[in-house]
Amino acid sequence: MTNDQTKKFYDELSADYHLIFGNWDNAIKRQSKILDNIIQKYSKNESKTLLDCSCGIGTQAIGLANLGYKVHATDLSPKAIVRARLEANKRGVSISFDVADFKKLEDQVEGTFDIVISCDNSLPHLLTDEELLLAAKNILSKMKSNSLFIASIRDYDQLLEDKPISTQPNVKDFTKERTISFQVWDWDENNVYTVNHFTLKGINEKFDTFLRTTKYRAYKRDEMSKIFKEAGFIEIKWLMPNESEYYQPIIIALKP
Ligand SMILES: C[S@@+](CC[C@H](N)C(=O)[O-])C[C@H]1O[C@@H](n2cnc3c(N)ncnc32)[C@H](O)[C@@H]1O
Repeated sequence: MTNDQTKKFYDELSADYHLIFGNWDNAIKRQSKILDNIIQKYSKNESKTLLDCSCGIGTQAIGLANLGYKVHATDLSPKAIVRARLEANKRGVSISFDVADFKKLEDQVEGTFDIVISCDNSLPHLLTDEELLLAAKNILSKMKSNSLFIASIRDYDQLLEDKPISTQPNVKDFTKERTISFQVWDWDENNVYTVNHFTLKGINEKFDTFLRTTKYRAYKRDEMSKIFKEAGFIEIKWLMPNESEYYQPIIIALKP
């Protein structure tokens, strides 16, 4: 059920996903540069092949392929993969793509990689410890010995202190229309919240509203570290934005 809702959410959002960013191409460049720095600093192997197991429309995969990594990029959403492939082709970047659930990577993705990544709050779509543990074990199965895993999530330690109910609107002006994107969050008692993602498109006084919903669990950093440790990861460490310059806390971990 969760998977179906998540897939529907990202399938429907795939055409508009770039609107979440001020400038998507700048985000592609900025994020890949930071991730490359982290890989250079913390990786203990040759760091050539990379699996992005929640690539969405390709934000990190495209930037990292541009920097010379041999990237295989997968995602639960078939429509996000179609768009990611299109965006990579448009930019002349070579990436292999496939649809895969990060809870089933062992069966759905061939081979092992020097680096595996899952960025921008993808793992918190898994709402239970059991599901996250299953994903962590499947991620580990795709990693070579000594390889590095990198994931970013929202700063839930901070957000859980006051459980905000909305995000700031992101406004973009195009020649023929203005788009406004924002989220309204409905919290339940288990630190799980429903994201109501609004996109408004229009001009003058006439706007169309598109509403898509999905669920997230607000994992504290310690909760996530514990689950990755249980899955078999070692040297688990969190890099906070003031250290990494990434916009979200990043968890890094090694396969023994
Ligand atoms: C917030 S988006 C981030 C996408 C991309 N990393 C980016 O930064 O543009 C979260 C992504 O996680 C993917 N996702 C959620 N659950 C997944 C699962 N079980 N397996 C693989 N991907 C999943 C979604 O389809 C979506 O593309």
